[in-house]
Amino acid sequence: MLRQALARFPRFELIPTSTPLEHLPRLSQHLGRNIWVKRDDLTPMAFGGNKLRKLEFLAADALVQGADVLVTAGAIQSNHVRQTAAVAARLGLRCLALLENPIGTRDGNYLSNGNRLLLDLFGAEVELVPNLDDADEQLAAACDRLRAAGHSPYLVPIGGSNALGALGYVRAGLELAEQMESSGQQFAAVVLASGSAGTHSGIALALEHARPGTRLVGVTVSRPDETQRPKVDGLLQRTAQLLGMNVPATLRIELWDRYFAPRYGEPNAGTLEAIRLLAGYEGLLLDPVYTGKAFAGLLDGIASGQFPGREPLLFLHTGGAPALFAYHPAEQLND
Ligand SMILES: Cc1ncc(COP(=O)(O)O)c(C=O)c1O
Repeated sequence: MLRQALARFPRFELIPTSTPLEHLPRLSQHLGRNIWVKRDDLTPMAFGGNKLRKLEFLAADALVQGADVLVTAGAIQSNHVRQTAAVAARLGLRCLALLENPIGTRDGNYLSNGNRLLLDLFGAEVELVPNLDDADEQLAAACDRLRAAGHSPYLVPIGGSNALGALGYVRAGLELAEQMESSGQQFAAVVLASGSAGTHSGIALALEHARPGTRLVGVTVSRPDETQRPKVDGLLQRTAQLLGMNVPATLRIELWDRYFAPRYGEPNAGTLEAIRLLAGYEGLLLDPVYTGKAFAGLLDGIASGQFPGREPLLFLHTGGAPALFAYHPAEQLND
């Protein structure tokens, strides 16, 4: 039923096949607990990542509406903006990006390397703004300006996280549910980074539908539980509404908010340790802003007994590695 509801929405295909679900044997042995990874860092465009899933639906809508420019916003090192700019290039559209510097750094790598370098290659137009405290209004104002100049802008919200974008993770959640089934494993939990909340909300809806009772842990990357929860809940409601269904009464949102300090966009010692561990044991790259923090949560959850039993854990790898070149975590990692 969920699949049929999803099929009503046009999708511009960027991800023709499913991303892999992989076991991590060396890390599992080291931790004494089996870890599996859903490789959404391998979505096949512009260094991959979770936003391409949302953009499949948002780009299709932009085309239906006859847009000639995608307008979005994020941090200077935003993975979302990088993927949006790449999709705009693929569609032959312009891309306007409002960018903020959330950590107030003057570090040259942050300002010009990593994701920011790629924006130039994709031909995005960049407008630096002091902050994105009123992002929706700022984006709407940018669209108004473009319209007044005769363009047809399409607004892609921060993180691609509106109900239409979240459909990408409803679809991904159904894909993951099938892979969990065919892996033959009973997973103790699925762990992911929870930011603008489209990934979390979409996958929560799909998993509760396809594998009711699956424990899903969202590790927050920018906010405490009290402000992240209404974001996830609100988007869940709007996504379900868009699909013409109710949020299942059994669905529980679990948020862990102890891993994002000191703030969004700034790694802590646990983040760097998680990046080092996965790189060293599996040759797998996490990032300093999202997945490094989420994986640090998973590791601490194992160490502190938050995942009772012996069943494996499943980490949703949402990408972000280009930001490694902006943060130079290796300098901080090699003690
Ligand atoms: C690498 C990475 N992981 C996770 C997220 C969080 O996803 P969401 O914003 O849908 O919560 C983002 C968002 O930008 C991201 O870039």
